[in-house]
Amino acid sequence: MPVPRKIFVTGTDTNVGKTWISCLLIRRLTESGNSTGAYKPACSGVITTSDGTEVWEDVRELAQACSTTVPDQRICPQTFRAPLAPNEAARAEHRTVHDALLADGLAAWNGHCSHLVIEGAGGLFCPLSDQRTVLDLLLSLQTPDPTPAVVVAANRLGVISHTRLTIHTLQQAGIPVAGIVLNQIAAPAESQETDPSLPLNAAQLIHWIPEIPLLNCNRGEHSLSLLHSGNTNAATFTDWLQLISSVSKF
Ligand SMILES: Nc1ncnc2c1ncn2[C@@H]1O[C@H](COP(=O)(O)OP(=O)(O)OP(=O)(O)O)[C@@H](O)[C@H]1O
Ligand SMILES: [Mg+2]
Repeated sequence: MPVPRKIFVTGTDTNVGKTWISCLLIRRLTESGNSTGAYKPACSGVITTSDGTEVWEDVRELAQACSTTVPDQRICPQTFRAPLAPNEAARAEHRTVHDALLADGLAAWNGHCSHLVIEGAGGLFCPLSDQRTVLDLLLSLQTPDPTPAVVVAANRLGVISHTRLTIHTLQQAGIPVAGIVLNQIAAPAESQETDPSLPLNAAQLIHWIPEIPLLNCNRGEHSLSLLHSGNTNAATFTDWLQLISSVSKF
């Protein structure tokens, strides 16, 4: 297991379910017999528990999804306290994001897993350091082997434009897109009555982005269903997972 195959989970925004879907992918890849690790280049927003312990929820959840015990530092080499983009969160505590470490931290996984799920921060143009955005990091991970992106989109009014902007940006940059996950994140109170776009958005995404596989994640569920297979031959979620595993097919 020298250098793992990488999948990059990005999203249309912060708080759309990137960690939820990353954990799901880690568990499913592991169940399919792939030793799978998790990486978050930088994480901001600490929670202090009643006993004073500082916890970064994304790191904790990604660690729990991995089947073996992994040092937090390997999952995320740079953590910051403020709930801000990493560059500003670092500044708030008189630190600087270590630019090179964003990608170099991945090397800590070499030899430890065959597949690596990387969760970005915020959306594609979220600053990581003062020099680099999530998109810059993703671009730097396209050689020697491509790293496909999975785009998580929260199902709510606005998702069509946010998703198209994200896909357009990835396509312009030449980054392979493995799929879009429409995440049913809305609380029950925010039913169709308050957002009548909810039952319409999937069909609209298929209409406007027909070439990309579209998957659905129901609220509270740890599984995905394939709504549309795009230009791939994927007929089921399992096929799609296999497609992710062999990026050359994208
Ligand atoms: N399918 C889902 N069902 C139920 N809850 C969900 C689902 N997806 C996400 N959530 C919840 O919504 C919240 C935001 O999700 P999550 O933390 O995965 O977003 P994120 O995009 O990773 O955010 P960040 O940009 O902070 O990393 C969390 O409380 C998470 O548990
Ligand atoms: Mg997250």
